[in-house]
Amino acid sequence: MSELIDENGLRLDGRKVDELRPITIKAGVLNEADGSAFIHWGGNKIVVGVYGPRPCIPRHEANPYKAIIKARYMMAPFCSKEERGRTGPTRRSIEISKVIREAFEHVVLTRLYPKTEIDIFIEVLQAHGGTRTAAITAATVALIDAGIPLKDMVAAVSVGKIDGRVVVDLSKEEDNYGQGDMPVAMTHRTKEVVLLQMDGLFTREEFKQGLSMAEKALDYIHELQVKAVKEKYEEMSENVLKL
Ligand code: CDP
Repeated sequence: MSELIDENGLRLDGRKVDELRPITIKAGVLNEADGSAFIHWGGNKIVVGVYGPRPCIPRHEANPYKAIIKARYMMAPFCSKEERGRTGPTRRSIEISKVIREAFEHVVLTRLYPKTEIDIFIEVLQAHGGTRTAAITAATVALIDAGIPLKDMVAAVSVGKIDGRVVVDLSKEEDNYGQGDMPVAMTHRTKEVVLLQMDGLFTREEFKQGLSMAEKALDYIHELQVKAVKEKYEEMSENVLKL
């Protein structure tokens, strides 16, 4: 399929090449998790629950010097046409869980909590392109909500190539029919890249352009993460005042 960008430079859903889909994030949405967040990003709906630091089970996995991080990315059986009615892990979900775990190993201050584990459970309720990047963005908020110290916040977004143009935040159609997809996760303060994957081919110039487009989008996404955390604490202090 070509014509993912029309003669006015607009994409199938009417966005400009550097425009994100609408994003809302809410912190503290689950009663039973230590920390949680919900993200609604375009057609994606994802909930993240965090537990820990808690004693490592099985105990032989424990590291005497630091906490270990576990991440589980799961798609609900009703999240997309592809997944319709399917349950259980797949090669793809195992890969995504791994890259998400590795991204957070760079920022969680694991040495403060030897012999423990920190669990990040990601449930994709609805998927429409960019679930791994939305999940990372929400997981950062959930970790903060759980009070887990981070050396920096992480936000993520994908950039890609469609009809020969570099664009930000690919939708499912753009991901499936475009020429390239590059999810990027970066720390906010130090601008370290903690996840970068690439599907398709980019020239050196397109890669650079994509990375700077991602950086700009990530500054905005970071503001939404901070807003979600602040709103949670404002709600808490209002409730305390009511007591
Ligand atoms: O979601 P993300 O872009 O991180 O991962 P992807 O593997 O590039 O998949 C792109 C999109 O295809 C997903 O967001 C889903 O909408 C859809 N998909 C799905 O529903 N089930 C799969 N097993 C694979 C992809």
